[in-house]
Amino acid sequence: MTNTSIKSLIRTIPDYPKKGIMFRDITTLFADAEGLREVIDSIAGEFQDKNIDVIAGIEARGFIIGPAVALALGVGFVPIRKRGKLPAETIEVEYELEYGSDVIEMHIDAIKPGQRVLVMDDLIATGGTALAALDLIEKAGGETIGCAFIIDLPDIGGAQRIRDRGVDVFHLVEFEGD
Ligand code: PRP
Ligand code: MG
Repeated sequence: MTNTSIKSLIRTIPDYPKKGIMFRDITTLFADAEGLREVIDSIAGEFQDKNIDVIAGIEARGFIIGPAVALALGVGFVPIRKRGKLPAETIEVEYELEYGSDVIEMHIDAIKPGQRVLVMDDLIATGGTALAALDLIEKAGGETIGCAFIIDLPDIGGAQRIRDRGVDVFHLVEFEGD
């Protein structure tokens, strides 16, 4: 299956959640057995020789693909969650949204100092969420080796912001010009 086929399995919903937004819906990709397999194999293949110790997945859609890639690479999975969801002691980072701000958290002992981390989420737009995840991993003493997404929206520039921090960005498909 090619990346063009993967792209064709992503459903676009115009004007959701508000007018002017083209929502890229990956549930149709995940529901397709071959598409799901291709996503996991492609990301795992890209990072199999990079000595990843652990995958950190970002709530909520990073929880769908992160554990599957972790199984493929034979490594563990750590959840990065929205505020107030994790039971033990956490570290947190605040990040900007279009309107206001939000907070993501990770258990303080989830990543050990020196561990090589792959950050995973479904999509990168402004990069605000992923950059906050990089901050969390740095606070914990981990080293982010790369970030993997299914979708990049290059016009918005988030992937470039990650690269500017010296972290590799891998994505399978991009949507431009909207
Ligand atoms: C979406 C998407 C990414 C993030 C990307 O998640 O799944 O996590 O936004 O945007 P950014 O690059 O501008 O930060 P959302 O916060 O909508 O929540 P969800 O995954 O829990 O549905
Ligand atoms: Mg998300």
